[in-house]
Amino acid sequence: MLLASPAVRDHVVTVLGATGKTGRHVAAQAAERGWRVRAAGRRPGAVGAYTRFDWDAPDTWEPAFAGSDAAYLVIPFNHAGAPEKAPAVIEAAVAAGVPKIALLSTIDVDHAPDDDPTKVAERTLADAPTASAMIRPTWFLDNFTVGSFRGMLETGELRLPAGEAKFPFVDTRDIAAVAVAAMAPGGPEGPLPVTGPEAVDHHVLAKALADALHRRVTYVPVEAREFIDLLMQRGFSYGYGDFLADALMKVANGDFVIPVADTVQRYCGRRPYSTTDFAQNYADNQPV
Ligand SMILES: NC(=O)c1ccc[n+]([C@@H]2O[C@H](COP(=O)([O-])OP(=O)(O)OC[C@H]3O[C@@H](n4cnc5c(N)ncnc54)[C@H](OP(=O)(O)O)[C@@H]3O)[C@@H](O)[C@H]2O)c1
Repeated sequence: MLLASPAVRDHVVTVLGATGKTGRHVAAQAAERGWRVRAAGRRPGAVGAYTRFDWDAPDTWEPAFAGSDAAYLVIPFNHAGAPEKAPAVIEAAVAAGVPKIALLSTIDVDHAPDDDPTKVAERTLADAPTASAMIRPTWFLDNFTVGSFRGMLETGELRLPAGEAKFPFVDTRDIAAVAVAAMAPGGPEGPLPVTGPEAVDHHVLAKALADALHRRVTYVPVEAREFIDLLMQRGFSYGYGDFLADALMKVANGDFVIPVADTVQRYCGRRPYSTTDFAQNYADNQPV
């Protein structure tokens, strides 16, 4: 068993997406270890020294990585040109001499089309002359609090085309914990699936949120069309809604079973957060 190593004060890490759902926790947890964090993006994150990095400005890539001992890469979802840019960003990190790269991937990457940016990035990393870890999480619990489904939580009705399917939802704090373990000296390499401790359906998730927030939250299974319409009413594109509906229905139809992974326990030395832990943490951090 390989446990996360203790704080290394001269360990420098570049964190992309440091304002996003996973990167913000990666930056915070890396700083807690005493590492020097470079929060690389279009705007500063809450933690770390700001370094400009823009997927649309290649001149910002290599400087953001130069001098770092490890990097966390997030490919912004649906970013124009991502299948071409992802390998180029990885090449910039390699050219800058970064010895370890942790890529945010996805648990179903093996089922993705060959030109999917995450799949392209995994292939590039596997062939790169640097150590790497592919962080492969399942559905984020945070989709309901800071992500695309936040509006549903606000209305108290989680309306998704997920039937009675069970998902081992993951807390983004656990994704970050695995990423940070991978970026530590001697950390794990290769594909690292990240899930919560057990698979639960959306009724269980809704109840956990209702109990923690002390208000009504229910899950209502709906058809894909209604779900896509709801997302479009909230400003998301048809294509994005269709992609999510398809991914949810694959699980609901039994075409894709998401196994529970022991990666958090194995590399972070603790059990992953449950839906109840997640909901309570969210409720505890609400402004009063
Ligand atoms: N949600 C899920 O359930 C789930 C499950 C498995 C895998 N994933 C994968 O997770 C990834 C998304 O990760 P996340 O949720 O941590 O990200 P996120 O919350 O969507 O945040 C995206 C980050 O990318 C930054 N960004 C956007 N455009 C940029 C640009 N042009 N240049 C530099 N930075 C830019 C954003 O910074 P700004 O502050 O500048 O906007 C933000 O920090 C996707 O690849 C998705 O496939 C998601």
